[in-house]
Amino acid sequence: MPDVNMSVELAGVTLKNPVVVASGTFGFGREYSRFYDLGELGGICAKGLTLHPRTGNPAPRIAETPMGILNSVGLENPGVDAFIREELPFLRQFDTKVIANISGNTPEEYGIMCEKLSAAGVDMIEVNISCPNVKAGGLAYGTRPELAAEVTEEAKKHASGVPVMVKLSPNVTDITEIARAVEGAGADALSLINTIRGMRIDVNTRRPVLKMNTGGLSGPAVLPVAVRMVWEVSQAVSLPILGMGGVSRGEDGAQLMLAGASAVAVGTALFADPFAPLRVRDGLAGIAAKQGLAAVSELTGGVRPW
Ligand SMILES: Cc1cc2nc3c(=O)[nH]c(=O)nc-3n(C[C@H](O)[C@H](O)[C@H](O)COP(=O)(O)O)c2cc1C
Repeated sequence: MPDVNMSVELAGVTLKNPVVVASGTFGFGREYSRFYDLGELGGICAKGLTLHPRTGNPAPRIAETPMGILNSVGLENPGVDAFIREELPFLRQFDTKVIANISGNTPEEYGIMCEKLSAAGVDMIEVNISCPNVKAGGLAYGTRPELAAEVTEEAKKHASGVPVMVKLSPNVTDITEIARAVEGAGADALSLINTIRGMRIDVNTRRPVLKMNTGGLSGPAVLPVAVRMVWEVSQAVSLPILGMGGVSRGEDGAQLMLAGASAVAVGTALFADPFAPLRVRDGLAGIAAKQGLAAVSELTGGVRPW
């Protein structure tokens, strides 16, 4: 098979291949580094960080579903300072791009974290707006365009030129409305989708299977929703997109790229197979070669809608 150029651009950052690992599913890479050189990956979205350490939600907080999982982990993390001190130097040993993922309770918290992380030298900051906020009465920033824009502006103001990628929630009526607001506020890229809210009940105990009652659905079950949303968003804005949601094979990643994504992330598939991102990468290379493409980036936006 002819050699395919696997590198892609995401908000001015060159990834050696289009496969990134999704935030919260790869920790800070330590466990996975025992399986392969993390430099094989296009990039690593680190576990979601908050300004202060968090212990997360009470267990049970992960449950299986048909073709997916429900989780209510609740952003367990050591806090942004411990990440910079203890985890970033570890990740920096590998020839890959490091993307820090942040969640805040207020726009100011996002700003403070961006300042710290850009000074510490991450390659990109992924702003998770799918978390609740205090200021606007507990609604998620990602469900209201004006709040999503406010957080984006604050992040950009403090990121000192490090590209800001805003991660969109699928739990909205019209995702393009949020995408446009975030683009207008100066985001450099978008990532989507985060998990879809769901619930499972044990019929014998009549208890929800998760202690928090509801959780976020991810895994193969959500792929068609992700493909649809990436397609809609790619037509609504001109920002590059990191597509994710249910990717476990090259063909899944190719669907997201054809729908408009410049790169893709693998999340839940890692729990069944730590090598899933490498399988997706090789699968994408095979699809591109079979279609006679010189570069995998030629897949982006290539869908031919009826
Ligand atoms: C256990 C778990 C923890 C997650 N933690 C985060 C997080 O900290 N920040 C974030 O932006 N997304 C988080 N996500 C969402 C994933 O990054 C991803 O958007 C979602 O799971 C869809 O991709 P997948 O189907 O390949 O897992 C988490 C997902 C799972 C399953």
